[in-house]
Amino acid sequence: MTGLCGLMAEDIKTAQELAQHQKSISISEFFEKNRHLLGYDNKIKVLLIIVKEAVDNALDATEEARILPEVYVKVEELDKEKYKIIVKDNGPGITKAQIPKVFGSLLYGSKFHKLRQNRGQQGIGVSGAVLYSQLTTGEPTEVVSSTGDGKLHRYKLKIDVKKNEAIIIEEDTIPNEGKWKGVQITFVCEGIYREHKQSVLEYLKQTAIANPYAHIIFDSPTGRAEFQRGVEKLPPEPTEIQPHLYGVEIGMFSRMLHDSKARSISTFMQTEFSRVGKQTADEICKKAGVDPVTHPKRVTDEEVVKLVKTIKETKLMRPPTDCLSPLGEDFILNGLKKELAPEYMAAVTRPPSVYRGWPFQVEVGLAYGGSITEPRIMRLANRVPLLYQAGDCAITKSIMGIDWKRYGIDADKLPTGPVAIFVHIFSVWVPFTSESKEAVASYPVIIKELKLAIQEAARKMQLYLNKKFRSVEAAKKKEMFRNYSDELAQSLAALTGKKKADIYKILMELAEEMYISGDLGGEEGEPVIDKSTDKKPKAKKKPVGEGGAEGEEMEEESEGSEE
Ligand SMILES: Nc1ncnc2c1ncn2[C@@H]1O[C@H](COP(=O)(O)OP(=O)(O)OP(=O)(O)O)[C@@H](O)[C@H]1O
Ligand SMILES: [Mg+2]
Repeated sequence: MTGLCGLMAEDIKTAQELAQHQKSISISEFFEKNRHLLGYDNKIKVLLIIVKEAVDNALDATEEARILPEVYVKVEELDKEKYKIIVKDNGPGITKAQIPKVFGSLLYGSKFHKLRQNRGQQGIGVSGAVLYSQLTTGEPTEVVSSTGDGKLHRYKLKIDVKKNEAIIIEEDTIPNEGKWKGVQITFVCEGIYREHKQSVLEYLKQTAIANPYAHIIFDSPTGRAEFQRGVEKLPPEPTEIQPHLYGVEIGMFSRMLHDSKARSISTFMQTEFSRVGKQTADEICKKAGVDPVTHPKRVTDEEVVKLVKTIKETKLMRPPTDCLSPLGEDFILNGLKKELAPEYMAAVTRPPSVYRGWPFQVEVGLAYGGSITEPRIMRLANRVPLLYQAGDCAITKSIMGIDWKRYGIDADKLPTGPVAIFVHIFSVWVPFTSESKEAVASYPVIIKELKLAIQEAARKMQLYLNKKFRSVEAAKKKEMFRNYSDELAQSLAALTGKKKADIYKILMELAEEMYISGDLGGEEGEPVIDKSTDKKPKAKKKPVGEGGAEGEEMEEESEGSEE
């Protein structure tokens, strides 16, 4: 017998039969199948990702503990396409009980629930590296840590992908002879080591520029590279903030209401979100038709929808922006100078701005000439270099949106001259386009801030380049004038009967007057630094674009992304 669409009756499956195949999937199983979502999609890139995840964590941990970072990285070839990666730091360490959780479970970490400017956000980075290692070589990851209590805790572990928890292969605790405190991780994984523009070496070099207070040693299969500290102090510590009402969505709002200890919906909004006063909270409730004294747990689903809709239509105070920690002009210039030895440098830090209720800020460094012989674009988010997916990134789009020729730089969409462009965006929540955290999403306000910062730095550089090229031109003309002066002096002497030496002297003085080569500034052997138009970020400045500054009212921005 045939049924619907001509199918045989025995082909038709019942919901009961289908139900036998329906079961939950653990997060580890999901990423085991989808490791490309974490960036593990080619053998050359994976070594970079593993080093990056561990080094980013090392820098986050040392900075949070206010310790000047000392990071050691080793990549050693064990066999064809098989490598051992060691990353060691001098941070606070991880307690014994936490080691199996941190390294053996995906989505386990200390940063996801904090609105704080950190490199890590998701709680997936280092456990993802453990998962990739065991997937490709079957080997466990070794973690050694000391918290300074005189003991060294050592674990060899793998991830039980079904349970998303650690399988402990070996575990011991021994006395810590030295004073070392921190974490050392050893991965054994499949990969290919290369030294090109998207390599471990390049990542560490850019990390050294963006974190000039870190001392990094890298033992690679081709030898040692050492990145010395350029400054002996950490940048200011970022503070944690509360979420902003503009960032909230229906589901999140409902969950927060359910978990809240507040006694009324009005106090809930005042205490769990940043910058909401009683007047604003009551006004939102009134406009949404909800009694401000309603207990959070009694707010109905319909009321939640109305409240969230009203929030989007209400003018709210911007979130506080002192939660952001810029590198600042001096650190950027220090990093560029020590790693790139340029002829000229300029840096710009924009005032803080806001996207979807999250504060963010942009800073740019430009370096020209010297040891820089080709264009170099450095994209950074929360001090982490982004080396892949450049085409999808708001930073690349902004750089491509600049008319570089106007600023004296040869360009074909992107600059082609000897210029290094360092662009850093930092936020309590960087909007990455995917879990692999390789590209920044193109919110219009982000693109606008990026462009303004790049243009401001480019204007500074343009002044220098104009002066430089005028100077080179003048020197060439002077040289040419001098080359003819001897002959000219001889002819004039024959015509006038005056002494050739006197005429020659006059001609030389004339050349000096006519072609002034100009002083480009800077000390001998040192890069020229343009501080002429220095502007320190002003928190209370008039808003630029949708972003605007702290303490001012803002309207919810449009969701559209800029192409
Ligand atoms: N070297 C370290 N020193 C101290 N704590 C660490 C170190 N490495 C990791 N941790 C802890 O382990 C947690 C998990 O690290 P993991 O890299 O998986 O996630 P994350 O850094 O929070 O976020 P992301 O997935 O974005 O990297 C961190 O949040 C941190 O608390
Ligand atoms: Mg991490």
